Amino acid sequence: MNGNPKKIMLVFGTRPEAIKMCPLVNELKTRRGVETVVCVTGQHREMLRQVLDAFRVEPDYDLAVMKPGQTLFDVTERVLEGMKAVLAEAKPDVVLVHGDTTTTFASALACFYLGIPVGHVEAGLRTYNIRAPYPEEFNRQAVGSIASYNFAPTALARDNLLREGKPPQSIWVTGNTAIDALGTTVVSGFEHPELTWAEGSRLVILTAHRRENWGEPLHHIFRAVRRVVEEFDDVKVIYPIHLNPLVRQAAAEDLMGCERVRLIEPLDVVAFHNFLARSYMILTDSGGIQEEAPSLGKPVLVLRDVTERPEGVKAGTLRVIGTNEDVIYQEFKALLTDEERYNAMSTAQNPYGDGLASCRIADILTKGRATV
Ligand code: UD1
Ligand code: UDP
Repeated sequence: MNGNPKKIMLVFGTRPEAIKMCPLVNELKTRRGVETVVCVTGQHREMLRQVLDAFRVEPDYDLAVMKPGQTLFDVTERVLEGMKAVLAEAKPDVVLVHGDTTTTFASALACFYLGIPVGHVEAGLRTYNIRAPYPEEFNRQAVGSIASYNFAPTALARDNLLREGKPPQSIWVTGNTAIDALGTTVVSGFEHPELTWAEGSRLVILTAHRRENWGEPLHHIFRAVRRVVEEFDDVKVIYPIHLNPLVRQAAAEDLMGCERVRLIEPLDVVAFHNFLARSYMILTDSGGIQEEAPSLGKPVLVLRDVTERPEGVKAGTLRVIGTNEDVIYQEFKALLTDEERYNAMSTAQNPYGDGLASCRIADILTKGRATV
């Protein structure tokens, strides 16, 4: 490509990609001399719509690929085929993808096949274990090998890319756009009926949905939570459940009827961030929440064996504890009873940037360098 791109397409399809791409869409739309086009794959439907509405982003293209119980094959082939047609019509100079989902991988692959440059937002996160998280680690590495612009959220992510032989001039450390989003959502005085229900108790937010946790690991998580809640009558848990029927079924089996656990529908991002801000602690296998919690100073027990976000572990906010029922039970209890441990994990620190990541990425694309 000669000079800066004039037509920039952003492609995303799931809730977390949307939360971290919408701030960039809105930033790019303020820039003169560049056309911003949004294509959603619709890998998620309702959960994507919640985010688009919150950030007032209306897509130019929607591949609407989601079907209930979709497989990796379904999503990959539908996104690849759908993107072929959209790219042929829109002819963007560059396509920006985010993170590590199947949408990210398949749309980057479509660009590669058509010779269209790819920019990877949230580049360089690694576990170097191709099976964990699955298939996200593969997706990241594959997109990493395709991308010509790599927007790394941290210096550690940049170093991963350099070690892999990516040209230094293709990498920029920008911060994570998750922090840009967080800066616009958390407000004092936020009210919600579920928060009223939790008043006077220690509120724990639970989320779990990862593929590698489907089946037995999810049951371990839920049984451990139930055991702790039954022991501590000042603890209430809110679990906004992912719309995946497999996850909902497992949660219903183990947690239904537990008085101090509320299973609720996915919250819109503004509400969810305010729930996090009001919580005592968080239990999660999510990626994005590991980036948000350190800013809010909320201790997180990470329900995975490995994390590609070691910055939050180093900052002291995250503890990676896996999915063994007894370990979760002990670790959860320890944060409720051991004040020293709790205080050590609840200092607000933010290793993911200053909330200006979108501005930097837009600068790099439109001016060739960041001006903030
Ligand atoms: C996907 C991503 C994962 C990301 C997660 C965020 C892949 C392989 N996985 O996993 O990296 O962490 O999104 O949440 O890309 N569903 C709905 N409505 C929705 C969304 C999902 O009904 O709005 C149900 C559907 O039955 C769908 C199922 O959830 O088939 C699974 O969705 P899918 O995107 O395939 O997988 P996730 O587990 O959400
Ligand atoms: N989130 C949300 N509503 C919810 C649960 C989570 O808006 O009910 C947000 C959360 O703040 C984070 C993102 O969704 O920004 C994480 O998405 P998810 O856990 O689905 O995916 P992951 O981050 O694991 O890829």
